Amino acid sequence: MKKNIALIPGDGIGPEIVAEAKKVLDKICEKCGHEFNYTEILLGGASIDAYGVPLTEETLEIAKKSDAVLMGSIGGDAATSPWYKLEPSKRPEAGLLAIRKGLNLFANLRPAYLYEELKAACPLRDEIIGDGFDMMIMRELTGGLYFGERKTIEEDGVKKAIDTLSYDENEIRRIAIKGFDIARKRRHKVTSVDKANVLDSSRLWRKVVEEVAKDYPDVTLEHMLVDNCAMQLVRNPGQFDVILTENMFGDILSDEASMVTGSIGMLSSASLNETKFGLYEPSHGSAPDIAGQDKANPIATILSAAMMLRYSLDLDKEADTVEAAVKKVLEAGYRTGDIMSDGCTYVGTKEMGDLIAKEI
Ligand code: IPM
Ligand code: MG
Repeated sequence: MKKNIALIPGDGIGPEIVAEAKKVLDKICEKCGHEFNYTEILLGGASIDAYGVPLTEETLEIAKKSDAVLMGSIGGDAATSPWYKLEPSKRPEAGLLAIRKGLNLFANLRPAYLYEELKAACPLRDEIIGDGFDMMIMRELTGGLYFGERKTIEEDGVKKAIDTLSYDENEIRRIAIKGFDIARKRRHKVTSVDKANVLDSSRLWRKVVEEVAKDYPDVTLEHMLVDNCAMQLVRNPGQFDVILTENMFGDILSDEASMVTGSIGMLSSASLNETKFGLYEPSHGSAPDIAGQDKANPIATILSAAMMLRYSLDLDKEADTVEAAVKKVLEAGYRTGDIMSDGCTYVGTKEMGDLIAKEI
């Protein structure tokens, strides 16, 4: 199978972890007779340095023409990087938001799964971990507060900042449908998270999700307020299957969910549009403090590449192979610093990539 993949190494640890994911994909191609054509594109700080803006039209066009996009991470240290002296709309994060919007990637899937082998890295007590947990956060990605009108003004000498949170029913419906579809492939439960005791946008969210649920009588729907959900994630994470939620709540809850698995360095993500097209990136950020030191955990990016094989390229068997290779390497006791525990063998970014590629 021949496919075109746009690669975004990005900033910070991005180039290192993308290189390891590519190493694993190369091995898949070699074993399974596929041919992936890679085009490297710039986003975030790397694009600012080259073109003065975090995303160019040309870059977006290349991404649009590819079969899928694989990304590392973008952004730098806000306290020290010159990128953060620019106005907010020209900073690295604006590029990421713009590419998501430009590619219409409204559905963000963030799995949070406790690896048996990494139980020691999980900060929760054994009785809370129970039989482990395996949830999928389905985050709306192109609407809500992050895309509403915003401005900072001055009224009578007092500075005032305004951000707007809006959702229309179509935006809610399409993400809800994705959430219920995914639940059907899992344990048939959707927890829709909102703040319907305060926000109008949440009340509409709840109403539309209930309408969609009627088409999925085999899926159990429950509603949960976001503050309660934040608490339940550390109190009883095993109760969740699919968490369906709006953009900002999903941003926050997915970081929390990833931490309860023990390491944000393990968690992949997929951002999808209405077709098979998607952008795949680890759930974690660019970790500028450890960039270029061969310390970053490449597993989240490697697992994101596996999601790409599964969701955009229809290569389920190959995706299974990558996931199994990761598991084998963990079983053998190899760990990067973020997931290190007693009795395990410490490895750097490159060696972790080599070990996983070797298991393919
Ligand atoms: C994420 C990140 C981004 C987001 C930032 C970098 C804009 O936190 O992917 O979760 O909020 O979506
Ligand atoms: Mg985030």
